Amino acid sequence: MLGEPRLEEISTSISQMVMGDIDTATEARLLFGDGPGYFDFSTTQRLQGRFLVGALPNDLAGRVLDVGCGSGNVTLELLHHCARANVLGIDVSPSMIERAERLLGRDPAIALRASLQSVDFLRFASGIDTGNPDRRNFDAIFSTSALHWLGAPRQTYAALHRVLRPGGLLAVHQGATGCYAELHEIAQKAHVEAGLGDAPLRYPPGYLSAEELVAILDDAGFVAAQVHELDYTLTGRGQLDALAHDFAHAGLLPYLPETERSRTAFRERFFDAADALTSVRVRRLYAVAERGSSGSDDGPARPGVRADQVGRALAEQLDGAHAELTAPAGR
Ligand SMILES: C[S@@+](CC[C@H](N)C(=O)[O-])C[C@H]1O[C@@H](n2cnc3c(N)ncnc32)[C@H](O)[C@@H]1O
Repeated sequence: MLGEPRLEEISTSISQMVMGDIDTATEARLLFGDGPGYFDFSTTQRLQGRFLVGALPNDLAGRVLDVGCGSGNVTLELLHHCARANVLGIDVSPSMIERAERLLGRDPAIALRASLQSVDFLRFASGIDTGNPDRRNFDAIFSTSALHWLGAPRQTYAALHRVLRPGGLLAVHQGATGCYAELHEIAQKAHVEAGLGDAPLRYPPGYLSAEELVAILDDAGFVAAQVHELDYTLTGRGQLDALAHDFAHAGLLPYLPETERSRTAFRERFFDAADALTSVRVRRLYAVAERGSSGSDDGPARPGVRADQVGRALAEQLDGAHAELTAPAGR
């Protein structure tokens, strides 16, 4: 279990981040240090994650790994939807895991099938420091809105392949190249206007095009891969306001300056500029695939849920997604 970072550690690390000499896992642990705040402002991620959950068969059973489970909102939906699955949610942020523990602990029947661990996924997959002998051979891997934060996508997808059992199912959703471009542009301007100088555009490191993701899945050894892109534009005032607040607890985090005072000035300028936006384009990737058995030391493939079945269900989910996601916001 990773401990909470101390204040001095955070400011040293933020300076190192700016200098580019800190690893992405430490960066993510510091950025996503506010689990309760994320829990309150992640309607966007919850809606986007719901389509992936909805594509899974209700009878999906066995051990499921949720990579980057955050404050547990979507993990809870996954546990309700797949009532025969045991889910291990992992996240590099202890604060996210604490919030998820509170959420999943409320219902004893859910708590029985859920476990949580604060750990960097790549360390988990490689077995370093996890003390978890059971870290491989998952029947399914689920991940939503998280993989683009993990850094090098090739390394990430190769590690996902390693922890899945032969014949196991991968079902993931992540950001696509160009997602939220308008919000990144105003974040950059707000940085300059708040007197903080130029900020390079700081997209999460792993945004990919659909073609790139297809190639990465193939190179990692996945078979029967299907990648779907969801591309929609938000124009309603309520939708744009809700998105800006959710973005402030995720995509905006790498732009935030060190001191509280500068943060306030920066955030005010960001929200002023967000008020003037009339549209934001959202681009997401959804992928399903299977781990084949060729070249595997982990034994022959056992039949499980087939990626082609889940891929068809996913396509149906995403057909209905556009109308749902662009409907007026509830808050
Ligand atoms: C935008 S949140 C998504 C959370 C959740 N899946 C959801 O949909 O609400 C991204 C999460 O990925 C986690 N994360 C980032 N890098 C990670 C890593 N290297 N290992 C594990 N989790 C990581 C962050 O701490 C954060 O909770």
